Formats: sequence, C-alpha cells, structure tokens
Amino acid sequence: MELVTVSDYEQMSKNVCQQIVDKVNILKTPVLGLATGGTPELLYERLIDEYKSKNVSFANTFTFNLDEYVGLSGDHPNSYRHYMNEKLLKHVDISIHQTHIPNGMAENLEEECANYEALIEKAGGIDIQILGLGMNGHIGFNEPGTSFHSKTHVVTLDSSTRQANARFFPNAAEVPHKAITMGINTILSSKKIILMVSGEKKASALNRLLNGEVSPEFPASVLLEHPNVTVVADHSALSLL
Ligand code: GLP
Repeated sequence: MELVTVSDYEQMSKNVCQQIVDKVNILKTPVLGLATGGTPELLYERLIDEYKSKNVSFANTFTFNLDEYVGLSGDHPNSYRHYMNEKLLKHVDISIHQTHIPNGMAENLEEECANYEALIEKAGGIDIQILGLGMNGHIGFNEPGTSFHSKTHVVTLDSSTRQANARFFPNAAEVPHKAITMGINTILSSKKIILMVSGEKKASALNRLLNGEVSPEFPASVLLEHPNVTVVADHSALSLL
C-alpha cells in the first residue's frame, strides 16, 4: 500500500484527479469505479475542469458506482444516481448508458445485485476504483463484519453510518435503512484502488487502517491485501499517526 501525503482537501482532490486523467488518457475503454459522499465532491469538480480544458474525454469511459440506497429512485435528490448526475456525469461527454449505479428501486434486489456483478465483469473489470473511508472503516456500504468474499449485495446500514450520512438529508429519519453495495471481493477485484481520506474526523479510522491489522471488523483493512492501492491522505487525516 502506497501512502501519498498531501497538505489539504484541495491537494488531495487535485492529486487523484490527475491519476484518473492519466489513466483515462492511456486506456482505450477505461472503467472507473466511483464513490459518493463528501470526500470526492471536489475531485468531480476538478475532473469537469479537466474535461472543459480539453485535457481529457470520457467518451469511451464506463463507470460503476459503489453503492445506492434501497428505496430511492434515480431522481430522488438523495439518491446516489442523482448525486453522480449532478456532480459529474451530466457535465462531461459520457453517455448515460455507459454509467452504472445499482438500482435501489429494483423489484428483485438479489437479481439486481447479480446483474450488477455481471455488468462489471462484462466491462472487463474496474481499472481504477475510488474509495472514501467510513468512520467505522466501511468501504462502499460494507459495514464491520462483512465477509471479505462478498459480492454485490443488500446491506442494513449501521446506525452510525445513517447518522454520519444524515447531514445530506432533510432529517435523520429519512436516511434509508438499506442499501445495495459492491461487496468487498468486488472492490478488491479492481486493478487499482485509490482511497481518499481527508479531515480530522477520519484520523482515527485512518490510524487504525495504517496500523496494519487485517480484520473484517474493520472492512478497509482488506486493502492491505491488495497489490495496487494508493491512499491519498491530507495532514489532518494523518494527525493521529
Ligand atoms: C458513505 C458512502 C461511501 C463513502 C463513505 C465516506 O456512507 N456509502 O461510499 O465513501 O461513506 O463518506 P464521506 O466521504 O461523506 O465521509
């Protein structure tokens, strides 16, 4: 695992943006694994800037998001589909058909999960997966205790995760209880993984990750077993080290 230390949130976003632009420019049909939440917001702004400056085109890119809430449709303001469309996808030259996010409204959620896995495989696997870090160590929505062998599946969210994400909703009660998420094995099958960590509130989780003990009780620790992981972290996230 490579650790890249940057000064702040802006530098983290810029660094990861450049890594993505380089990869997209090299590959014929790049496959990006994308994340939501607060962490990658500025990264997506930077990617739009790079597109507008004609430094990159996403015309041949395919995207797969990590997760989606169950029960929210794509046009719901708190769905991750809506987040991705607004924060990145509608601003660049990617066709909506090349972008994938689990359908949290699917009638048969198990079938939706299996289809999602099949789509990733058909695309040739994920070239770069972007990850944020949950305060309890979750990646995607894989909460503590999730099997390292898991594929895309339906999860019940931890109350701590619902609380952490309540800031995006009108009130805490509206945060869904369930979600679909890529499994840990799905994430680990990516060719390269970039974990973005910024801010003091992530310092304790990052400290635990870099301490090196691999355990399903701290899902992000599985990244220590992947051959090509870069952690891009800012000074405040590293303040407990
Ligand atoms: C959320 C998302 C993850 C995200 C993580 C960190 O619950 N499901 O994909 O990476 O938690 O969120 P944030 O970046 O807002 O701290």
